[in-house]
Amino acid sequence: MNTVLSSANPTQLESECLAVVVVDDGEKNKPQPRVLASEAALQSAAAEVLASGEVTGKLFETVMVHRPQGLKAKRLLLVGGGRGRSFSSTELRKLAGTAARFVKPKNIRSFAFLTPELPTGVADAVKSIVEGVFVANFDPDVYKSDRKDQSLDSVTLLVNGDTKSLQAAADQGRIIGESQNFTRELVNEPGNRMTPTMLADRARNMVRQLGMDEIKIEVFGADKIQELKMGAFWGVAKGSDEPPALIVIRYEPKDAPASPVLGLIGKGVTFDTGGISIKPADGMEKMKYDMAGGATMLGAIRALALLRPKVKIYALVCATENMPSGKAQKPGDVQIAMSGKSIEIINTDAEGRLVLADGLFYARQLGCTHLIDAATLTGACVVALGMVNAGVFSNDDNMYGRFQSALQRAGEKMWRLPLDPEYLETIRSNIADIMNSGSRYGGAITAAMFLKEFVDETPWIHLDIAGTAWVEENKAWIAKGPSGIAVRTLIEFAQDFAKTGASWGTSAGTATAGNSTSGTDAAQKRADSGAGL
Ligand code: BES
Ligand code: MN
Ligand code: ZN
Repeated sequence: MNTVLSSANPTQLESECLAVVVVDDGEKNKPQPRVLASEAALQSAAAEVLASGEVTGKLFETVMVHRPQGLKAKRLLLVGGGRGRSFSSTELRKLAGTAARFVKPKNIRSFAFLTPELPTGVADAVKSIVEGVFVANFDPDVYKSDRKDQSLDSVTLLVNGDTKSLQAAADQGRIIGESQNFTRELVNEPGNRMTPTMLADRARNMVRQLGMDEIKIEVFGADKIQELKMGAFWGVAKGSDEPPALIVIRYEPKDAPASPVLGLIGKGVTFDTGGISIKPADGMEKMKYDMAGGATMLGAIRALALLRPKVKIYALVCATENMPSGKAQKPGDVQIAMSGKSIEIINTDAEGRLVLADGLFYARQLGCTHLIDAATLTGACVVALGMVNAGVFSNDDNMYGRFQSALQRAGEKMWRLPLDPEYLETIRSNIADIMNSGSRYGGAITAAMFLKEFVDETPWIHLDIAGTAWVEENKAWIAKGPSGIAVRTLIEFAQDFAKTGASWGTSAGTATAGNSTSGTDAAQKRADSGAGL
């Protein structure tokens, strides 16, 4: 899809459709719509339909006017932006998506969007609109043989000002939107078309297409996973006939300092049957999206390589199937993780934490000083937070604070859950160091506590995206199917990390909180030696 920036007078622009935002400045039950456009001609083109009372400015409301008076556009689309006072890039991104998804089925292949003013500036507005339109242009129905291609050819952003200076913002929006869609494309594939090997191939192709010296990929198979003594990962992988893949991507720009290094670790279970603790048939087909965490990290590092922040970032995806078979691990088995910790397998369906345990530990060995993992980890997280918020956990308040502001900039929703040491009691084993599953209660938290055992004091954030990686219903701005949740936040986070990460310090665990640099140095040393567990 083409994105065009234009400083043309919106009344003079010839287009199939011109989309304009209408916010509501009224009181409750007394809407007072206001068109976000400075041109009098546009105001008067909208005046008649506004007077009809059909337009309230309610969020995601869409009203189409044909042959609008005084405009060269064939249609005028009024898109509701909600409360005027709180209108931000988060709404704008979704509105641009709403406009795109509204015109697509109407045989309209291009439209124009009048860029409204935002308190955060016009560049932020341009970036948000482009992101929103790319995300909206994604179609998950790839296996319907009668599918009609409704994708957009181009969108024109009308801006008040110098289009040249805004090109960078539009480019960023494209990179981020396309990367989010790359993640969604991977997640969308069924298990037979996205085995660990295929996921690794997609990752390789992605890196090759970037064609940059700064980013390199390695893929390790079963032999190397065993050689590295990744007993937890291998315990899951050995039950499947499909070979596992440990995907390691390193983005190392030449001007980046040696430290800090951000590690992005994703759960890449390409199909989760539950293993010997097999899942019920009802709904099992959904477990094709159990590699969403891994796909998230691939999308994020793709975008970051293109955006070129001056910091090292590694992405690790632990890709495997979780299958029952004669070779599969059994409840009661004890596995020794790469860190040396022994794990009693209580439930083979708690496999995500096993593959991540070794992924997180290995990332530290590779030199990562800060870790973020993403995983469709627990049904319990869906019970706790539903499909609205992803769960977020952290052992480091500084890092969490930075993450929270990245969330806000990206307009994504996540909710922090606790990691009190008391929760660890429920996963203590009689015969090993730790069990892979505890009581029924607080399941999202005990899963996170399990991971924490392999992170030690390295500043870390864990994202449980089980409830948010897949959208069950079509929404105004996004199709049902894979959401690409967390990709945008990770990009925002990493860009900030590049600028400020070196001075964050750490408040992880009982570590040397306070001093701004010693914490990261300590983490680096631990990572270098691989010690600590
Ligand atoms: N992949 C599932 C979690 C999941 C559930 C993802 C629903 C998406 C939607 C995970 O591997 C799993 O099976 N977790 C178990 C853990 C339990 C056995 C301790 C769960 O949540 O039931
Ligand atoms: Mn499972
Ligand atoms: Zn799983």
